[in-house]
Amino acid sequence: MKQTLVLKVNPDKPETEKMQIAANIIKQGGLVAFPTETVYGLGANALNPAAVSALFKAKKRPLDNPPIVHVENVNTVYTLAEQVPPKATQLMKLFWPGPLTLIFKRSPTVPDVTVAGLDTIAVRMPKHNVALALIRLSNCSIAAPSANLAGKPSPTSAKHVLADLNGRIDAILDAGPTSVGVESTVLDMSVDPPMVLRPGGTPFEALREALSDVVLHPFVAAEKELPVGKARSPGMKHKHYAPNADVTVVEGDIPAVVAKVNEIAETHKRKGAKVGILATDETLISYHADVVKSLGSRFNLAVVAQNLFRLLRELDAEGVDAIIAEGVPTEGLGLAVMNRLRKAAGYRIVKAS
Ligand code: TXA
Ligand code: MG
Repeated sequence: MKQTLVLKVNPDKPETEKMQIAANIIKQGGLVAFPTETVYGLGANALNPAAVSALFKAKKRPLDNPPIVHVENVNTVYTLAEQVPPKATQLMKLFWPGPLTLIFKRSPTVPDVTVAGLDTIAVRMPKHNVALALIRLSNCSIAAPSANLAGKPSPTSAKHVLADLNGRIDAILDAGPTSVGVESTVLDMSVDPPMVLRPGGTPFEALREALSDVVLHPFVAAEKELPVGKARSPGMKHKHYAPNADVTVVEGDIPAVVAKVNEIAETHKRKGAKVGILATDETLISYHADVVKSLGSRFNLAVVAQNLFRLLRELDAEGVDAIIAEGVPTEGLGLAVMNRLRKAAGYRIVKAS
């Protein structure tokens, strides 16, 4: 067990002294959790193999699932990537800093452990002053997966990070809750047309507007478990975003969904299970269960995304045995929300009609 140092920082103007402490830990090969606009990341010097190995260990992450390398300026991308296609240059101009991760053919100078032995590398520039200052002061690119234990929902606050990693990492920069709430969109630029491997904070619609041709990997909108042979991203084949409770997602028209959710809740209750329901503002009062929480309005999917992981953790903390979640439309940030919910449910999806 280490003592994890908690550094509270101002999200807009992080205090130099505290940032310097965190940067020195990174420089010495240590692990620092830090906020990004999406979720908290667990950072290590991307070019230090021992530090990156320690990162996998702290998270209990399978060694075949590489982290995202975070940069503070576009020039660094050219030292990490072997090939940067013109389309990627355009996307970096349009979307960086922001919740878009790009996959490139990797440069041989990047340690194998950082890319889990793949011939590609995932890179992004986060839109958060604390993250950017940490990279700048550490004077290196920072490899950072989400700062949760493998298999847990990604952390959207320092409290979530500490719940999973207290005593396993050197420090955390606490700058309050994150704004996007789901992880970055992962876009593979090493294939043509570019392919979305993970839906996230940058909506697919925005990418489609910027690129003449861009496709979704079948996993992205999958409604059932697909054979892992088709995985292009190692993360696709690992269990993810799972709370302790059994999750069921109910999809369809609102009145039908409400009736179905209550019906499933009743079945669980009869078996003596403690039931939690993830509702939306519009349906909240129609449900009867031990715990009912609203993700936000169905008409504001950005807020739904912001709340998702926090509420999954809160329901776990309440000790519910079963979670029944309402589906939301798969447009804008809704695609990322549904991707995470369906995975959390192990694809236990009920269509209400
Ligand atoms: O918003 C985010 O992306 C957050 C913050 C901290 O930046 N990070 C994050 O990292 O979600 P992580 O490690 O939890 O997810 C990275 C995803 C994984 O699904 C991984 O498999 C995929 O990116 N990935 C990494 N390198 C890859 C590569 N070379 N090819 C394909 N997928 C890759
Ligand atoms: Mg993760």
